[in-house]
Amino acid sequence: MDRKLKRNRRRVSPRMVLCALAILAAGLYPSGLSAQDKGDQGKDAAPKTPTLYQRLGGYDAISAVVEDFLERLSKDTAFDRFGTGRASDSSRKTKQRIKEFICAQTGGPCAYTGREMAPAHQGLKITVKEWEASTKLLQASLEQFKVPEKEQKEFMALVEELRDDIVEKPKKEETPAKQN
Ligand code: HEM
Repeated sequence: MDRKLKRNRRRVSPRMVLCALAILAAGLYPSGLSAQDKGDQGKDAAPKTPTLYQRLGGYDAISAVVEDFLERLSKDTAFDRFGTGRASDSSRKTKQRIKEFICAQTGGPCAYTGREMAPAHQGLKITVKEWEASTKLLQASLEQFKVPEKEQKEFMALVEELRDDIVEKPKKEETPAKQN
């Protein structure tokens, strides 16, 4: 092999290859973004779907729905037993926790600091009838604030997932068959 050519080949050192790659990479991602970041910000990236929390209108909208729902519950005599014998501060705390809970469950930025749904409702002996009446009142509150149908459905589906934790199953010895 010609000596001149041999000398030229030796000049392409690994360091030079690395430099070339670095320059190429800098050209592809000049702002230092990763491929993932770039994908997120590029014009062809699919827009992020807003969370249910956002679509409901955020914290204030959720707060208004909860206030309205609890007002309806308190006016309905079928729920009298849940409102009696409680300090007003306990009711205020529960109201605040329900707001936090819904905020967190719908993808909002709140940290829920309350109890899990099962222990929070255990012993209240909430029946299927009471559950169904309460979901109708909740639906009425969503209507009141003109929450769109799609969001209403999504929200009520989330609530429905709580049914088994909130509605108390009668113990075997309490079923009518055993009582007779
Ligand atoms: C028939 C329907 C319901 C009734 C009668 C009911 C009743 C109650 C009562 C009386 C408490 C206070 C318990 C206590 O402090 O000892 C409570 C707590 C709570 N409920 Fe309900 N509830 C119902 C449905 C729901 C639903 C659908 C949700 C969620 C969307 C919910 C979320 C909560 C939360 C977050 C707490 C506070 C837990 C805590 O204190 O840490 N409840 N509920």
